[in-house]
Amino acid sequence: MQKLAVIHHSAHGHTEFIARHIVAGASGVPQVEAQLLRAEDLARTPDDLLAYDGIILGSPTYLGGVSGPFKSFMDATGRLWRTQQLKGRLAAGFTVSSLPSGDKQSTLLSLFIFAMQHGMLWVGNPILPEQHSGVPYEEAANRLGSWSGLMAQAAHGSSADAFPPGDVKTARMFGRQFAESLLRVGPAERA
Ligand SMILES: Cc1cc2nc3c(=O)[nH]c(=O)nc-3n(C[C@H](O)[C@H](O)[C@H](O)COP(=O)(O)O)c2cc1C
Repeated sequence: MQKLAVIHHSAHGHTEFIARHIVAGASGVPQVEAQLLRAEDLARTPDDLLAYDGIILGSPTYLGGVSGPFKSFMDATGRLWRTQQLKGRLAAGFTVSSLPSGDKQSTLLSLFIFAMQHGMLWVGNPILPEQHSGVPYEEAANRLGSWSGLMAQAAHGSSADAFPPGDVKTARMFGRQFAESLLRVGPAERA
């Protein structure tokens, strides 16, 4: 069994909602166990990351970057960075925001650089936008056209589950594809 952590911060539930669908998508892959973890908890016990073969990082976009609690988690991994204990493990990222662009790309870039500094291997979001093949925009997988990581968007002030169905579908596909990548690469080497 390979273990996958979906680490997220979510103040109002939107990022958690998408994270739960990523977990559900990954959990459909035999031999992969996906767990939902809160960035705030891991900030206290960052060494818990060593139990996982792959890590998916998720933050809401705040002012074009990761949220404060998510950054605190990232900074808490300093010792793991010094010892490069996460080297060679798979990583991916996702972000949620209220505007169609909202500068989500910068958030994904922060998550990517974090993973690169830890020597991890980045997995993107290899899904062709389905609106190009006639699926209605709101129902289309990867409707926002993001390949470096998963983007999802719910309107400002909406309820936590108010995503277009395409974003929910993308989250499940993203989780499944990451889990399949994990199986192809094999378990992480433990120090
Ligand atoms: C401090 C703050 C900054 C934000 N900055 C952005 C932003 O730069 N771009 C954007 O599209 N939405 C922005 N938002 C909206 C959030 O990304 C959006 O509400 C998101 O769904 C919150 O996720 P959560 O429900 O998991 O907490 C911001 C919200 C807050 C509270």
